[in-house]
Amino acid sequence: MSERKYVIDQMISAKSIAARVEALAAEITQSFRGTEKLVVVGLLRGSFVFIADLVREIDLPVEVDFLEASSYGDAMHTSREVRILKDLRGEIAGRDVLVVEDIVDTGFTLHHVKNLLLSREPRRLEVCALLDKPSRREVEIRATWTGFEIPDEFVVGYGIDYAQRDRNLPYIGKVRFV
Ligand code: IMP
Ligand code: MG
Repeated sequence: MSERKYVIDQMISAKSIAARVEALAAEITQSFRGTEKLVVVGLLRGSFVFIADLVREIDLPVEVDFLEASSYGDAMHTSREVRILKDLRGEIAGRDVLVVEDIVDTGFTLHHVKNLLLSREPRRLEVCALLDKPSRREVEIRATWTGFEIPDEFVVGYGIDYAQRDRNLPYIGKVRFV
């Protein structure tokens, strides 16, 4: 699959992303104002660029932790089965938590991760997703904050991969096979 030739058409520029990240961070800062500390949980690996930019714009005491959940495989299709490959290092019971996700697609990953984290009884748990593909949803779930709603296209860049490639692109582009 990764052998197939493709080109990447820019969909969201680095400049638009930066502006949106700033706005999201301002809303998050406002919403969690007064928190003792916000635990920002990045879902590996796709959110690593987004979380790095986002936390630097959040004007609150933060702690950063990571969780790796995986739907099977490497390709363009998600499976319903979600495995936890790497759990959090810290405790979240009684704490304010913000989960940071790259894309909400079918919703299975976020659904599973949210239930897992809620079972640990945080004081409050919200989700910030950079991208949302609402037309692909199979589980009814929404992030508290969404960067951009996009159509049903396979995208890469800004941390997001296609078979582990293109995470280092500074913009978000759609994959087009040629
Ligand atoms: P869901 O469980 O179907 O919502 O899948 C969410 C995960 O699938 C995201 O965190 C991504 O890792 C991956 N994913 C969904 N759409 C895309 C895409 O367009 N490009 C790259 N990865 C994607
Ligand atoms: Mg992925």
